[in-house]
Amino acid sequence: MARDGMAPGRLDAATHWPGIIEVYRDFLPVGPSTPVVSLCEGATPLIEAPRLSERVGAEVYLKVEGANPTGSFKDRGMTMAISKACERGAKAVICASTGNTSASAAAYAARAGLSCAVLIPEGYIALGKLAQALIYGAKVLQVRANFDGALAIVRELAEKAPVTVVNSINPDRLEGQKSSSFEIVDVLGDAPDYCFIPVGNAGNITAYWRGFQEYEKAGRSTKLPAMMGFQAAGAAPIVVGHPVKSPDTVATAIRIGNPASWKGALDAAEGSGGSVRSVTDAQILDAYRFLAAQESVFCEPASAASVAGLLAYGAPAGSRVVCILTGNGLKDPDGAISQVSVPDAVDATLDDVLAGLDW
Ligand code: F0G
Repeated sequence: MARDGMAPGRLDAATHWPGIIEVYRDFLPVGPSTPVVSLCEGATPLIEAPRLSERVGAEVYLKVEGANPTGSFKDRGMTMAISKACERGAKAVICASTGNTSASAAAYAARAGLSCAVLIPEGYIALGKLAQALIYGAKVLQVRANFDGALAIVRELAEKAPVTVVNSINPDRLEGQKSSSFEIVDVLGDAPDYCFIPVGNAGNITAYWRGFQEYEKAGRSTKLPAMMGFQAAGAAPIVVGHPVKSPDTVATAIRIGNPASWKGALDAAEGSGGSVRSVTDAQILDAYRFLAAQESVFCEPASAASVAGLLAYGAPAGSRVVCILTGNGLKDPDGAISQVSVPDAVDATLDDVLAGLDW
């Protein structure tokens, strides 16, 4: 945006976004001596969703967290976790992950010059996420376990080795992740009526709720949204009320049977007048395709759980709804390709191309 005295059409240095720590410093546990490790995460688009709004009869916005530097919301938490780890003199970090945490940890650790190890469930991580962790230079171990099993080993390991855990059990992670709520309020001018959000390990719903509460307390908003969390039906421990031993869902990012922030999710849902409910894989994939084809937002399957929840359960007429789209669709090319039919090649002649286009 051009400002007074600036030539239009040029990037305005005064409005450059320096990342969530610098922008929301007053709300974060950082001091003047905290070394800020940032990739300018945050300031993600909050876009109107006209077709979705029409379909559900509400005013719906999409918070596109896939626009973060490594393609997911994890970067908000990771800038905090890695900055604080550096402040405390850490040399190495570790996490268990369904993919996005590992990609983000690997990137921010590399930036800070820390070594990074990640444990991922064998066979259940989207290709793009695996590629990210490896290319950023993390030590990647595929374990023969699901996410819950991998996280249990990380917890055990952290007691024996001088290493900082950067899963969301690290409180610095949630501090960073709450910044998305601040952005939503800053852009809308107040909190929305409803916040729809996918739930896996349940850190993010906990963080968003904290962010909305802190901003309201600080007088930045006049109300709080109802927090509407959505788990995949085959991995819905909070909904069924007990851990799920073998969680299963096409949305591998939220394929989690025993969430670490279970209580945080319940507090968010109950404290806000919201709920945690489940959506089927079919509903998730319907929402996933709808978002790409109708709203031009390509998110990953787990992210679409928020919109699947909105489509399945609705929202009161005219209410203002924000759906959190947690990760970028490019992370999971196999997921996308499985939902479409890839065309065969045609010969490079005008006739063959016209025939192929069926015009
Ligand atoms: N959406 C995406 C794309 C995720 O990667 C995750 C979690 C969630 C939603 C759920 O967030 O765990 O805070 O409830 N991914 C973690 C990971 C578990 O290892 O990348 P949550």
